[in-house]
Amino acid sequence: MARTFWVGGNWKMNGTTAAIKELVAAFNGADAAAGVEVVVGAPYVYIPLVADSLRKDWAVAGENCYVKASGAYTGEISPEMLKDVGAAWVILGHSERRNIIGEGDQFVAEKTVKALEAGLKVVLCVGELLEEREAGTTQAVVDRQLDAVVKAVGPADWANIVIAYEPVWAIGTGVVATPEQAQEVHAAIRKYLATAVSADVAAATRITYGGSVNGKNCGDLAQKPDIDGFLVGGASLKPEFIDIVNAQQ
Ligand code: G3H
Repeated sequence: MARTFWVGGNWKMNGTTAAIKELVAAFNGADAAAGVEVVVGAPYVYIPLVADSLRKDWAVAGENCYVKASGAYTGEISPEMLKDVGAAWVILGHSERRNIIGEGDQFVAEKTVKALEAGLKVVLCVGELLEEREAGTTQAVVDRQLDAVVKAVGPADWANIVIAYEPVWAIGTGVVATPEQAQEVHAAIRKYLATAVSADVAAATRITYGGSVNGKNCGDLAQKPDIDGFLVGGASLKPEFIDIVNAQQ
């Protein structure tokens, strides 16, 4: 089954109004390959600006959300609010939220359910720490992170989920996984989905790679059969992001 190549940017906690206007103008003026689904993740406060000004063939993502629609949850943002200000997607389970903020598998799973119920599409991030890779537990960690979501979501909603495999040791380090390392985990994730959900979901779900992707290394990664795109941090803050969108060309 042909899977539409998917490229997401994750600006994380970066940007100013002026810098974002400049970056969006660069993206809007760029020659981006047709047939690639592109999503830009912005800090909450800049989502309306990005949603209003970004080219309409690209979509906007929040970088997190809470599990309630509204109420006394000071400082939190609901999936419904993200939709209301123009986001179509939300990034959930990013390693920085798991490892810095302390979000666990169950909380990520609950957020996934609530975001899907609110009509958002979800970029679900999974990935192992360096010590977990060195201990040989990469797949066990990734399966455990996925298991929580599979149990919570069930078989129905996978068309609205993109998986991002992001080995934590590769994020922001300049140490990108080799195409072979990434392909090995992506293939195992697809196998896991076939068993845990269904063969159809396994064949259709986009499994993207994140971790020190740049304009130079994206081409080789994109050649691998189970790498269906990228979730890009640092390089998504630069016009270089376009080279990654065009990785398959
Ligand atoms: O969500 C994106 C990832 O954390 C990758 O970040 O491209 O800066 O390594 P990076």
